[in-house]
Amino acid sequence: MRPADLRICKQEGRPIAVLTAWDALSAALVEQAGADVILVGDSLAMVVLGHATTLPVTLDEMILHTRAVGRGLQRPAEQRPLIITDLPFLSYQCGADAAVAAAGQVLKDSPAAGVKLEGAEPEILPVIDRLVRSGIPVMGHLGLTPQSVHQLGYRRQANDPISQERLKRQARDLQAAGCFALVLEHVPAELAANLSAELAIPVIGIGAGEQCDGQVRVTADLLGLSERQPPFCPPLLAGRQLCIEALRGWVAGLQPQCQAPSPPTSPSAPAAPHC
Ligand code: KIV
Repeated sequence: MRPADLRICKQEGRPIAVLTAWDALSAALVEQAGADVILVGDSLAMVVLGHATTLPVTLDEMILHTRAVGRGLQRPAEQRPLIITDLPFLSYQCGADAAVAAAGQVLKDSPAAGVKLEGAEPEILPVIDRLVRSGIPVMGHLGLTPQSVHQLGYRRQANDPISQERLKRQARDLQAAGCFALVLEHVPAELAANLSAELAIPVIGIGAGEQCDGQVRVTADLLGLSERQPPFCPPLLAGRQLCIEALRGWVAGLQPQCQAPSPPTSPSAPAAPHC
């Protein structure tokens, strides 16, 4: 799967399945589940690195996790899911040169074939243009953009007509700047449906209703592993509880090992370790 193939999926009406992965184990699960795209999302900052937001994760960490994801894939190269890696906070907001260096490093040092970045402000559009003209496929991300959590919170976005018009304009701008796909997060379903119908590039929704060209989910949320679930991602199973109960059963089933009398020891032998 290549970035351009996603447009073909849209044209043929084939829904695009995008799942996040952060290491070899999660990548193998997601690949075997049949995902078209693996997103190494900066949500890994919260999911596996224990941060409170996505902001602290670094470019080096994103590359390290993307490399692990690549090592987890088992299918022949031409059948593998497309890997897209999030550009972390501050790796692309400080100008096009820095963004090309950061995204270029992702593509050079990991199996990612493209990057995702958030927003479509007037400063970001020329950055996307430069990335695309440098040969770096870019996926856009609008609506709830977690790197702006201190401005937006984790609330649903584009709830009134003015902000809906603004988001539509931004989505068109991202398409014009050369994005190959667009993630729409936590926005009204009707808005996402209208944009999916209007844009030529695929719209991948999360908390954006069913009428998008594809859906993306944070795999840990879908599996019920996260401590706090987003309201728009009901878990498929109570993964966290199931894991804790299984491990608790294993811990409780350990047999005491210190019942047998110790063999006699010679005065020079080292003392037997105590349990
Ligand atoms: O970081 C991430 O996992 C994401 C998805 C929520 C789209 O950006």
